[in-house]
Amino acid sequence: MKILLLGSGGREHALAAKLKESALCEALFLAPGSAAMRALGECVVNLEVLDPVLVKDWAVEHGIGLVVIGPEGPLAAGVADALRQAGIPTFGPGKQAARLEASKDFAKQFMARHQVATAAAKSFENRPSALEYALTRGFPVVVKADGLAAGKGVCVATDRGELEAFLDECFETKAFGDAGAKVLIEDFLDGEEASLLCFCDGQRLEPMAAAQDHKRIADGDQGPNTGGMGAYSPAPVLDAAMLAQVRSLILEPTLRGLIAEKLDFRGCLYVGLMINAKGPRVVEYNVRFGDPETQVLVPRMDFDLGEIMLACAEGRLDPTALRWKPGASACVVLASQGYPGAYPKGLAISGLEQAAKAEGVSIFHAGSAEKDGGFVSSGGRVLNVCAVGKDFKEAIARAYKAVDAIRFEGMHFRKDIGHRALTRN
Ligand code: AMP
Ligand code: GLY
Repeated sequence: MKILLLGSGGREHALAAKLKESALCEALFLAPGSAAMRALGECVVNLEVLDPVLVKDWAVEHGIGLVVIGPEGPLAAGVADALRQAGIPTFGPGKQAARLEASKDFAKQFMARHQVATAAAKSFENRPSALEYALTRGFPVVVKADGLAAGKGVCVATDRGELEAFLDECFETKAFGDAGAKVLIEDFLDGEEASLLCFCDGQRLEPMAAAQDHKRIADGDQGPNTGGMGAYSPAPVLDAAMLAQVRSLILEPTLRGLIAEKLDFRGCLYVGLMINAKGPRVVEYNVRFGDPETQVLVPRMDFDLGEIMLACAEGRLDPTALRWKPGASACVVLASQGYPGAYPKGLAISGLEQAAKAEGVSIFHAGSAEKDGGFVSSGGRVLNVCAVGKDFKEAIARAYKAVDAIRFEGMHFRKDIGHRALTRN
């Protein structure tokens, strides 16, 4: 069948590489895709992927048999609803279920209604009452803009100055626009974070292998938050006993809630977890694959991703079909100088062919473009250098060996990806 994948980043490059191998895949279309993805399928650059009607019309016209929606934007805009109404199997939840990511207040209330383990929180629509409540909770305290803010809408405030500065961004300077018109004040959770991405077919919610990402820009988890500087899988903190707790305290009530509220969820539910001695708690839901978690999960998938996604879209997921390669995988993100602030673009990248030859290595492009037959940087996060190995040590060493071959001016990356997993083993 013909498969259409929406998106253009490193996550979509990884998904595209796996979908291309699917026994179902006769042709792969990528909208908009990227220069690097042209090797995998046909890029459809002029399709407005946030417009449900235009995407649906295009898919109908081109006889698409499965649509996979990568980013949250089209999901929150209702693209999946339009496709399903036209009878096209679609991997990705509809607009209503996408609110689990698009509104942190909606997600929190959903968790409260269904007794899903998470931190206590309250929502506010003005600065004085948000501040008053936050001050009663003690520091650190967490403030979250309600809406989609490209990963920037969360502040873990350690003192009153930070708290007030972030409330100013939400309510005074309106740095997040409408997304910051409502905020959630949430209790701080201590512990170790892990990402558990789950396939959902509307009736079943089945976790994938676990992963952990590195959100801070600098080694030792220092500096500002980013979209993710690296990741690894599995997540040692999620051992079998902890996973059993996650199933009973989080996944089962979440699924019951989805069904009870008729949120027909067919796609990937990303459950961001905080794990400590008291057990697991939900930090966030996302309604899509994680980035860069996907880049470490794809190389470990020992199943046909196209078949599984179609099964989710058609409500017939067989959890026993999900098999994971043993060993470990790691991803090192190569970022532009200045990221997560302003950064230059258009810098020539060298050494990609050499790097890709290394054993177990896959390179996914997050923000690159083509120029004069070569690749240049075009985003804050430029490349995802990923490797699998028999254990963390081997996977991490292989990824860094490949990184050694790659150069672009100002290239920045963390040197401690997977440090937690290495010291545990
Ligand atoms: P979110 O967008 O909700 O995932 O928040 C972004 C990051 O902020 C998370 O990955 C955590 O590192 C941190 N964070 C969010 N909520 C909490 C919380 N309740 N306690 C501690 N850290 C949090
Ligand atoms: N890696 C975090 C996210 O995808 O939201």
